Amino acid sequence: MTTTRLFVAASTLTALALTVASATVDLRAAQAKNASEGIYTKAQAERGLTLYDTSCASCHELGKFKGTEFANAWTDKPLIDLHTAVVSMPMDAPGSMKPAEYAEIIAYFLSINGYPAGQTELDGSEASIKAITLDAKK
Ligand code: HEC
Repeated sequence: MTTTRLFVAASTLTALALTVASATVDLRAAQAKNASEGIYTKAQAERGLTLYDTSCASCHELGKFKGTEFANAWTDKPLIDLHTAVVSMPMDAPGSMKPAEYAEIIAYFLSINGYPAGQTELDGSEASIKAITLDAKK
């Protein structure tokens, strides 16, 4: 084989590998999920409780994020709606927390509203949150 042919073969392989990699990413992004399926872990929600107490409780009554008030505001909507509101907080420092920390707070809200914990942590990236619907709990 000449050097040129080797080069062509190598770049074809690279292109193939890239195609496979992006196909995997697309599949994951498209995998729609419901909050009632267990989309966060218990440990994650516990960390969210601590964060809520230190960063949110000074301005909000927990009742705002629980029961009927929570259901009326966020149920049957894409989880990104709640996420957008949460990342705009704290009011005095919007977006100042890490994506993983905002995910922990959302996990905490789900837990106090009776959504079951699961085996996998809620990923704080927008792409992952966008694939989730906050369905009415089962
Ligand atoms: C400095 C005060 C302050 C802090 C701290 C704060 N918030 Fe807020 N938050 C507000 C105010 C004021 C509003 C707008 C009025 C309202 O909806 O209560 C608001 C609105 C919200 C809303 C939107 C409510 C809706 O129905 O649209 C959410 C969700 C929320 N806050 C979550 C949080 C979370 C989570 C934290 C902690 C990371 C937090 N807030 C920290 C003052 C604060």
